[in-house]
Amino acid sequence: MKAKAVARANIALAKYWGKSDDALNLPAVPSVSLTLDPLITETSVTFDEALQSDAFVLDGEPARAGEAARVTALLDEVRAAAGLDARARVVSVNRFPTAAGLASSASGFAALSAAASKAAGLDEPLEALSARARRASASAARSIWGGIVALDAGVPGDDALSARPVAPADHWDLRVVVAITATGRKPIGSRAAMAESRSSSPYYRAWVESCEALAPEIEQALRDRDFDALAPRVEQSFFAMHAVAMAGRPSVLYWQAGSVAAIHRIRQLRADGVRVCATMDAGPHVKAICAAEAVDQVREALAATEGVSDTLVATIGPGVEVEA
Ligand code: DP6
Repeated sequence: MKAKAVARANIALAKYWGKSDDALNLPAVPSVSLTLDPLITETSVTFDEALQSDAFVLDGEPARAGEAARVTALLDEVRAAAGLDARARVVSVNRFPTAAGLASSASGFAALSAAASKAAGLDEPLEALSARARRASASAARSIWGGIVALDAGVPGDDALSARPVAPADHWDLRVVVAITATGRKPIGSRAAMAESRSSSPYYRAWVESCEALAPEIEQALRDRDFDALAPRVEQSFFAMHAVAMAGRPSVLYWQAGSVAAIHRIRQLRADGVRVCATMDAGPHVKAICAAEAVDQVREALAATEGVSDTLVATIGPGVEVEA
């Protein structure tokens, strides 16, 4: 009744922002991501009849109430599928190198979905693990697979929606240079911020409509290994996502001075012929996507940018790995 799983974070090049079904946590827009190494979460799950309630320890500390509730909701689904009553002990460790502020729910819920399934004695396909991770956090659905992964928009009520693999990790040797631009907790989490965008941003509808074409174009550029097609579309996706959030009420602004400086630096490098483009998630850090041969130059340029306190480099990694 015990299993351990390892899963990796992912970075969306076509962003998910907004839901079509809150109860089932279905995304309103299609997204496409790269699974990242070595941004790893390791999670072990033990179902134990002696426990009175689920216990969740994250990075050595008892988890906060909100996180624990999401973990229990996922475990409840696994218990229902396996016909099990026992509560579980969940121990999760984020092995994220250096800088704080990057730990993501994606690797965490992907690892939890896989470990809980195995610990409960279920033998489920990756699609089932992905759909369950999606209900906990939609970006986590993508971390079940390695390489390039897509998550299509959800039709309300379609509880089976899972991510799908687009290409394996060795399809294209891209690198991701993360420019750390701030420390501490971000002002508002992605779940609350995307809900605000939907209820109050005048650009939300246009965002959802625009993603219908943009995400497949980004997927195709990745399949074709076409950086010139990829770069402007990746930047359009994150700029549009942030524009929607900024135009909400209250407006959500994740950018710090260092974020803007890093974006300009990346765009200057691209104008100079370097194959690099920028993206940002619901936080202040900037992620530069670049061709392998450009990684040293991009890292040096970002490390020397004002407001950037640290950099780290990720490669494209594999999907979830389970041990009994
Ligand atoms: C900006 O997956 O954290 O990183 O489904 O509400 O848990 P929930 O949201 P979450 O949102 C991620 C948003 C993003 C873009 C992306 O990863 O596609």
